[in-house]
Amino acid sequence: MPEPAEVQRGLQDVVALESRICFIDGRQGRLIYQGYDIRDLAARSTFEEVAYLLWYGRLPSAAQLSDLRARFGALRVLPGPLVQRIDQMPADVHPMDLLRTSVSALALFEPDETKPGASSIGGAQRLTAVLPSILGQFHRRRKGLPALRARPDISQAAYLVYALLDREPTELETRAVDVALILHADHELNASTFAARVTASTLSDLYSAVTSAVGTLKGPLHGGANERVMELLDEIGSVPRTEQVVRDKLVRHERIMGFGHRVYKVEDPRATILREWARKLGEAKGDLHYYELLRALESVVHREKGLYPNVDLYSGAVYSLLGVPPDLFTPIFAASRVAGWTAHVLEEYQDLRLIRPTAKYVGAVDLPYVPVGERN
Ligand code: ACO
Repeated sequence: MPEPAEVQRGLQDVVALESRICFIDGRQGRLIYQGYDIRDLAARSTFEEVAYLLWYGRLPSAAQLSDLRARFGALRVLPGPLVQRIDQMPADVHPMDLLRTSVSALALFEPDETKPGASSIGGAQRLTAVLPSILGQFHRRRKGLPALRARPDISQAAYLVYALLDREPTELETRAVDVALILHADHELNASTFAARVTASTLSDLYSAVTSAVGTLKGPLHGGANERVMELLDEIGSVPRTEQVVRDKLVRHERIMGFGHRVYKVEDPRATILREWARKLGEAKGDLHYYELLRALESVVHREKGLYPNVDLYSGAVYSLLGVPPDLFTPIFAASRVAGWTAHVLEEYQDLRLIRPTAKYVGAVDLPYVPVGERN
């Protein structure tokens, strides 16, 4: 039997599969979806166009886009029994736990969508349309807001704000959310997408794959970092305190959330774009508190550790300026990344090979078996 190759901890730099969906140039700080630079998509596109692009490999025509918008609108309604189950969940659970369990439960009511294979495109559209409804159903109840309506007439970005905050966003706010959704929609083989592809590679169904992905995104080293960034900003409190708080954390070997990245060796291009949106929204609302703290944080962390910001550094500030509570930041990330997860699952089904790496065994062998009554 051949000796296993050297262990790559965290599978760093391991090329696990071929994909046409997303390309990251970590040295140049470039992110490409199906051939299109993220900067062009963030400047000119919408989340609906980007979801179509990820699934079909090309930008939609005007008719195809209007068809997808209509489908999203029609697919926003939750099955009655799932609404009842969401309403029975404890109001103090984390929304990511609620989302994971609800995606899994949704599959029980949609058996036709859960067959693995090319037909899963229906499930991809359903899950992308419905995630804001799941979050809205839960969040509105815990906040005592009026009941959710399906609102088939509005964009996914506007629907997300309506579902969570029960208000019509301004044009600037809608665009800010749309850009955030575009920027989070895919990111090559990040941990949650890899989890989705591993699940799909066993020929399990799309809903199971997305359930795996939601559970993986939740962790603070992945999607959960944006919530922790806002906790850090509140701990810092004012620009002059930034240096001391960061130094104290680094002395204790704590990680500074929103900085560093496995793939980018320069600034994450998504952070560059979101920084501008945090400034624009802050100026529009006459509140640059978070923006100024984040600029100070960037400068101290870069000087002390040479680390660059990642996407999670500025997304929390953007959502906070809209009035979104911090525990919904990662769920909003999921409501965008679901487009990428499902695109990857569809790709996996087209060229399926069970993902099953191997481990270098470092445990004992040939231990003498001691019967239970003779053990210490
Ligand atoms: N704060 C302090 N030190 C850091 C940070 C950070 N944010 N990021 C990396 N480092 C240091 C590590 O301590 C380590 O130093 P050492 O060699 O002296 O021990 C070195 O940089 C390399 O770190 P690794 O963890 O090996 O690098 P890895 O590629 O595994 O880390 C990760 C990537 C997990 C994102 C890391 O940078 C991190 O923990 N960042 C904070 C959490 C975060 O912002 N996550 C969001 C990522 S983007 C996303 O998932 C959407």
